[in-house]
Order: sequence, then C-alpha cells, then structure tokens
Amino acid sequence: MVYPSFDAILQSVATSPDLENLEALLCIDDTQQMEKLFSLARNIRDVTSGKRMVLRGLVEFSNYCRNTCFYCGLNRTNASVSRYRLSEEEILACAHDIAAQGIGTIVLQSGEDAFTSLYLSKIVEKIKDRYNLALTLSVGERPASDYRDWKLAGADRYLMRIESSDKKLYESIHQGRTLSSRITCLDVLRDLGYQVGSGIMVGFPGQTVSHIAQDIKFFCERDFDMIGIGPFIPHEQTPFRSSPGGDLLLTLKTIALTRITTKNAWIPSTTALGSLDRDCRLDGLQAGANVIMPNFTSLSCKKKYEIYPNKEGSNMRGSESLASLSSLARSAELVVDGSRCDSLKKSYIQNL
Ligand code: 5AD
Repeated sequence: MVYPSFDAILQSVATSPDLENLEALLCIDDTQQMEKLFSLARNIRDVTSGKRMVLRGLVEFSNYCRNTCFYCGLNRTNASVSRYRLSEEEILACAHDIAAQGIGTIVLQSGEDAFTSLYLSKIVEKIKDRYNLALTLSVGERPASDYRDWKLAGADRYLMRIESSDKKLYESIHQGRTLSSRITCLDVLRDLGYQVGSGIMVGFPGQTVSHIAQDIKFFCERDFDMIGIGPFIPHEQTPFRSSPGGDLLLTLKTIALTRITTKNAWIPSTTALGSLDRDCRLDGLQAGANVIMPNFTSLSCKKKYEIYPNKEGSNMRGSESLASLSSLARSAELVVDGSRCDSLKKSYIQNL
C-alpha cells in the first residue's frame, strides 16, 4: 500500500476536514513538517482575514460560579477564592478605558453567576449607548430568554467554548452538565443573530488527539465566527491538580489546523498560551491566530479571576499591556487593528 505524502494530506485537509487526516497531522513531530503546517495556516489567515492582529478588551466582571468544572479554579467548591462582582459603574469605567485606547470590542466575561438578566441588560444598554464598541458576552449557559434580552439590549457576540464535542468526555469533566444543553445554547445564540464563538482546551485529562480531530471537525461543521484554543493548565484547587499541563506544540498544531479548515474565523492567541513558562502568544500568532485580548479588569480583581495559575497580564493594567502588543504584532508581521472586526463569515454578513 502506498501512503499519501505529508504534502498531499495537508492539501487535502485544507479542502475537506477528514478525521483520519486531521489526526495524522496532529501527530506530526518533524520540525520541517510542523513549519509547513504553520506556514500554510499563516497564508490562509493572511489571504482570508488580512495581515491583522485584532484587539478585544476583556473585562472579567464576576468570579462567582455555580459550576464544579474539574479543570477550573473558579469552581464553586474552591473556598479559597475571594468572590467579587463588579458594579455597573466599575464596568462602565472599564468600557471607558477600552474605548479610550481605541479598541473596538469589549468582552464581558464571568463565571456562571446568578445575576439577573436585567442586571446585565442595563449594563449592555449603557455601554452601547455611551461608546462605539462591539460587545461580546461570555457568561455561560443561560435560558434562551436571557440571551434574547441581552441581544435586544445590544449585545453583538457570544463566546462559549464547547471544551469537548464528545459527549462522554464532556460529561466526564462537567459534573451534572450535558453536552446537549451546551449545544442547544450555541444553537439558540446563533438563531438570535449573535456572532458565536466556541473553542476547547488542549491536553486536559482524558482528551486524545482523536477527540481534538473531532472538535476541529465540529468547528467546521458549525461555522463558528470565533474559535478560542488554549493549553490546559492545572490548578491546585481542582480535581485535576496533579495532571500534566497541555502540550504547547499540540496546542499550536490544533490552532493551525483550525485555521486551515475554518479559513476566516477570528482565532485568539489565548491568555493561556501567554501563561506557560514563557509567553507563547507569538507562537500562537505564527500558527495562524489573529486576535489578542488585553485584560482591562482592575488589578485587584483580575488576581481573583484565577481560572488557572500565573495568568498572563495579571499584574499589569490593560493599558500597560498594550504597549508591548505593538511589538508582538511586529514580530508576527501583523498590523494592530483596533476596529470592531465583526465576523467574516458569509452567514453573518448575509444577516446584516
Ligand atoms: N486551563 C486552561 N484553560 C482553562 N479554562 C478554564 N480552566 C482552565 C485551565 N485550568 C478555559 C476554559 C474556559 C475558558 C474561559 O478558560 O476553556 O471555557
């Protein structure tokens, strides 16, 4: 039997995301082959989305969480977290900072907190009224009526990672939760007209390359507007405390293959990539990512938003971290883009 060459597999995955080929490419360890993979990902990014590094200003406005996800330091059983929820005024001050820095998107993220839909609707309305910002929410699974309220209040986008598209694996790391309810949420958000983002961690316990291949296929099938991928980082106060962290190269290969197969999705070089032994966000950009999310949460609160340890930027103000980002973009041969950068997907553009 003649095996197809590496180049043939790479070309074929760019036109059709076959599970077996994805898995084979996730397993490569030859430096030259990896460089070819990353180089194709960069070319596809540059052609489909421009040579841009897009900024999104992040505000972690509450670290309360009702869940017990086995990987996350904010799980409700972690009594050592000092919990906070920002007031409307504090969140508006962050929005002010983000707009003043010329960034076109604010991302409001929290644990699965029990705030009312009205609390967040009022904040969304005020931000949209006062600032010319695209607004992304990332507050987890909620009833469809809440998603509708926030859309009507002016929210544009929603991020909710799938973590794993495999039912058994998903349910093994999320006690009492189901994959189907997560997928229903993603469907509802899309139907309501949100630009929708999803994603996974790479290298958490139980995950194999075949799961990751399946996840990349899932991203393609659902045509997400945004896809976040980062390495798993163990946190002391979780059941996964003794597990090894996710592998950097496997994370980069996952980003590259997601770029090659989904073409023009917005893909962040995630904070988790910036939080390894060294800051690996340049590696993420060189593997095909094109978004960076500087953190505008106040210094005292961002330390308490410890989903994993040693989070990049947790001892720096958002505006301070911006200074280093232009040199990051230059190193990646990208131009910083502070505009709102809506989805490049046809399905969304047709709905405008
Ligand atoms: N390591 C890496 N990423 C994590 N996340 C949560 N906990 C960890 C961890 N220990 C990711 C999840 C979640 C996102 C907000 O952060 O994918 O969706």
